[in-house]
Amino acid sequence: MIKKRVFSGIQPTGNIHLGNYLGAVKNWVDSQDEFDNIFCIVNSHAITIKQDPALLRAKTYELAAVLLACGIDMKKSKLFIQSEVDEHAALAWILDCNIPMGDMSRMTQFKDKSQKNPKNINIGLFNYPALMAADILLYQTDFVPVGEDQKQHLELTRDVAERFNRDYGETFKIPEPMIPKMGARIMGLDDPTKKMSKSEGKPNHGIALLDTPDEILKKFKKATTDSENLVRFNPEQIGIFNLLTIYQIFTGHSQEVIEAEFEGKGYGIFKVAVAEAVIEGLKPIQERYAKLTKEQGYLEEVLSHGASEVRKIAQKTYKEVKERVGLI
Ligand code: TYM
Repeated sequence: MIKKRVFSGIQPTGNIHLGNYLGAVKNWVDSQDEFDNIFCIVNSHAITIKQDPALLRAKTYELAAVLLACGIDMKKSKLFIQSEVDEHAALAWILDCNIPMGDMSRMTQFKDKSQKNPKNINIGLFNYPALMAADILLYQTDFVPVGEDQKQHLELTRDVAERFNRDYGETFKIPEPMIPKMGARIMGLDDPTKKMSKSEGKPNHGIALLDTPDEILKKFKKATTDSENLVRFNPEQIGIFNLLTIYQIFTGHSQEVIEAEFEGKGYGIFKVAVAEAVIEGLKPIQERYAKLTKEQGYLEEVLSHGASEVRKIAQKTYKEVKERVGLI
């Protein structure tokens, strides 16, 4: 039986955090057996914001090691670096020529990112969703497991594919987003009105997957909550709800069991329990990461094998697209 294809990507900027893990990477790992998986470190997307070149290179390899440590298994999945497969940028150009300005101008992430980086609002940042559509469509993807913040980009991708198929003939598979019921939008610990983000520079904002147990405990202890002093799954208690979501995913316990566990207990005790569950959950990842980084040459081998495997698929789709639009 032919397995359905999953494709997803992650940027190698900043430090991979709990939001990335619970919203995306954990689900990639958990469903690896079921699908034919392609995972991409999207370094070409990363340069839409100014990067230090040496740091970007280092972060790309660090992220690859973290993803493998999280459980991405080379026997079940392909992992590669976006810029190693030229067809991504090439297809993005053809898609650019077929996306109305109005559709692209509606993208909220462009508005957010340009507000955060007013000194470098570049064309690449505006076109970011076209490159993302190219990533997905090159591989004739069935499902795209992502956090909630990528939903709009996925809708644009589907529109782009449908329009292209209509205008030039059936070429692309129409991908479906896979957004988890729990953890699709993990909020910042310092400010639970904002999603946890790699680019938020504040020290108590996010938990990085490579944070030490001490750092994790300190950050959870400082997490912003409320004055209700009730540990319950009430979406209006945004800070507590966020911590409860994290706790529930890491422990696997039901909402009832968790609410009973903390009945009559203060936020202090609850926050320490959340921190301990996260420390425990990240421990095997951190141990595997430490081992992996000692294996000279392993990462390079995994990534170059991944790129050479996926390149064949990308080239096939790109050739067909060129024919469709009359470029060959
Ligand atoms: P990036 O690198 O910002 O995030 C990687 C994944 O993590 C999810 N995520 C979150 N989930 C829950 N709570 C949060 N606070 C949180 N923050 C991030 C994101 O939804 C994402 O799934 N544009 C993408 C990368 C990309 C891509 C693709 C994804 C490029 N091409 C093709 C899928 C398919 C991005 O910036 O992800």
